Amino acid sequence: MPNVTFSAPTLDKDVTVYAVAGDAHTLLALAKKNGVIIPCQCEDGNCGSCLVKITVLGDKPPLAQELTEKEKLTLSVNGKLSKKLLDEAETYRHMPPHRLACQYIVLGEDILVEFSGEPGVEIELRR
Ligand code: FES
Repeated sequence: MPNVTFSAPTLDKDVTVYAVAGDAHTLLALAKKNGVIIPCQCEDGNCGSCLVKITVLGDKPPLAQELTEKEKLTLSVNGKLSKKLLDEAETYRHMPPHRLACQYIVLGEDILVEFSGEPGVEIELRR
């Protein structure tokens, strides 16, 4: 069971929850289920409001849940996915840090999920 830690300026403190590996729920659904509010409007990969930054924790190679076609388009249009990052994702399965919570399926790895709390606004990197 992976740990998923949510971190945002809108939260009093980081929230770590246990996800069921292979449950096929989106990160947004997991957040909602645990009372973590990630801004979202369409919940279908079209608006970009649920922008999050994912960091895979631990020493194992990332499982690299691939970008959905909607993520590719929406992140690119919103300037969060460069051509270079897209090429790296498609060629080497190096996933970009910014993802859409409504499209990202939680896999069996520990992740840190950072978001600004404002729709579509990138969080400042804290490391
Ligand atoms: S809520 Fe619109 S892209 Fe995720």
